[in-house]
Amino acid sequence: MTDADQAPISAAISIDQDRLWRRHMEFGAIGGTPKGGVNRQAFSAEDATVRKRMVDWATAIDCTVSTDAIGNLFVRRAGTQDELPPIMTGSHLDSQPTGGKFDGAYGVLAGMEVLEALHHAGIETRASIEVVAWSNEEGGRFQPGAMGSAVFVGKMDAADLMQLRDGDGMLLTDALAQTLAATTNLPQRKRETPAAYIEAHIEQGPILEAANLQIGIVTDIQGMRQFRVEITGEEAHAGTTPVKSRRDALMSATDMIGALEAFMADAQDKVRFTVGRFETKPGSPNTIPSYVFFTVDLRHPDPATLIRLGDGVEAICQTHVRGCEVTVEELYHIAPTHFDPDIVAALRASAAALNLPNLDMISGAGHDAMYLATLCPAAMIFVPCEKGISHNESENAKPEDLAAGTKLLAHALVSLANNE
Ligand code: HGY
Ligand code: MN
Ligand code: MN
Repeated sequence: MTDADQAPISAAISIDQDRLWRRHMEFGAIGGTPKGGVNRQAFSAEDATVRKRMVDWATAIDCTVSTDAIGNLFVRRAGTQDELPPIMTGSHLDSQPTGGKFDGAYGVLAGMEVLEALHHAGIETRASIEVVAWSNEEGGRFQPGAMGSAVFVGKMDAADLMQLRDGDGMLLTDALAQTLAATTNLPQRKRETPAAYIEAHIEQGPILEAANLQIGIVTDIQGMRQFRVEITGEEAHAGTTPVKSRRDALMSATDMIGALEAFMADAQDKVRFTVGRFETKPGSPNTIPSYVFFTVDLRHPDPATLIRLGDGVEAICQTHVRGCEVTVEELYHIAPTHFDPDIVAALRASAAALNLPNLDMISGAGHDAMYLATLCPAAMIFVPCEKGISHNESENAKPEDLAAGTKLLAHALVSLANNE
């Protein structure tokens, strides 16, 4: 067997489980919360800190680092034939406000662990391998989410996003500038389409743990749509204003949300309808609310159902205005993702080579891979998380499971990089 044939297995067995776990604990402390979770929102000081650590690690193993207009962070390990399009992996370092240590961070740290293993084992690849930390995947602070990967594949324009404001009124452009200042003088990444993309992520569901498996091979991601609903009524005195004279934005919102929930009801429990953000003004107990803003997050694996239900949102809101004005804006509509059969097959072959039993899976959660799959052949690797809990500070995973997924990632990335 030549060195090139041996390289994928050599890369996999060079993965250092302890270093991978240590880095998860290090990153978990950056934005760590008292309950053991993480609050490291996009373009926060904590986000800047972990990006800086990425740059330090990359530099120490002779990788180059670059960025782009939305602050995505690219770490590249040059191949012997650097003119070949790179094989890409990655995920996100930003978290939910009450997030966990592993959502997103695993995919970035697994990619960095592959580069570390290749470096220390002296393994060369023909094509370059790139690890990406995508900006603002979670979309908790600035909507919409998956902003970094959407801009990278051309689905969103960075310039259109700069005037977005977070809940405290801070502009995205200012928050981004502060983040980039922490990793000064990074060059802009040259425009180059990857040959393939593989993302490693915790499952964020209970299936793998229940099946006592370490590996899921993700073949699809369900479709998702997200809406902003804004209602404008009129402030008035809570004690003197009769009901018939009220333009109460909050009562209008509660009618809308009740009607939307009824509309989304699904005996098969496959529709995922969530109102995750709800703000009201002026927020005084004795003034009738004049303004409400809420979000609608809608998911389904069937494209026609996603279209039918999402297209009903505005009409339902308009029928419950109670004398207020309402605007409904759709932030995104991402059809179900079907990953590339060749990359799925490559993952299955690598799992077989490593004797890693696995399961085909459909992802309920969205990932940056949704957008990358519109640009190049892509697929994902899942590893289990405890009780399937995620977007919760108690999110947990096992070092040996994270390492198993990383070994599979290493084997697949090197196989692809040597067979372009
Ligand atoms: O919303 C999602 O599915 C992802 O976790 N951000
Ligand atoms: Mn994630
Ligand atoms: Mn998430």
